[in-house]
Amino acid sequence: MLVDIHSHILNGVDDGPESFEMAMEMVRFACETGIRVVVATPHILDNQNEELVISRFRKLSEAIIDEKLPIDLFLGSEINFQFGINEILDTSIGTYRGIGRYFLVETTLTHYPKHFDETLFELQTNGRIPIFAHPERVGPIVGNSDLVEYLVAQGILVQVNSGSLLGMFGKRVHDFAWKLIEKGLVHFIASDAHNMRRRSFNLDAAWNEVYKLYGEETAEKLFCNNPLRMIFSENVESVKPVK
Ligand SMILES: [Fe+2]
Repeated sequence: MLVDIHSHILNGVDDGPESFEMAMEMVRFACETGIRVVVATPHILDNQNEELVISRFRKLSEAIIDEKLPIDLFLGSEINFQFGINEILDTSIGTYRGIGRYFLVETTLTHYPKHFDETLFELQTNGRIPIFAHPERVGPIVGNSDLVEYLVAQGILVQVNSGSLLGMFGKRVHDFAWKLIEKGLVHFIASDAHNMRRRSFNLDAAWNEVYKLYGEETAEKLFCNNPLRMIFSENVESVKPVK
């Protein structure tokens, strides 16, 4: 069973699907690839579109039930670090399922923001647990596993994209993503799916690659156990894979 904690599957709220029908196509495809739980994590750039996101989420959830699709949809968001993280965290879509504990944070791909670690550390003292979305894709971080190791030691969790492991973002990102897994610095693998074109669901292919290299236990932790624990607000384990 695959559990996807990072997807852009709601229509008309970010750079995900443009229409409701396209969103439904993505859901059906996610089911076909073995995903049984998916969290919609639209990009949140300010705290203005909370109501729109919730209404799109409700409509998609109802359609999933009507079609009897074998998948559970939950709501979260992907917060851009640069845009008022505190205000967004306080909205009902700032954290996973609105429970208030885990949240997904991204930086722009071209620079590592000032005060990133201090800000996230401060949030942790208030009971929040940050998940850093795809650090392997952030230019100034690529190749610097010491920095990721430092962030993980500070209590920040790491989500790597399945597409990075499959080479979709080039060789450097691919090699770095695998290095982070090898070093035990990755807690979750997720799709970050945006559409049915190039950025689609490919967790099944990435699962196979992890399984081939590290076996079933590691694959299960990264693609299923940790994601489920996180969604249900339980503690997540670190994953030290053995070849
Ligand atoms: Fe994303």
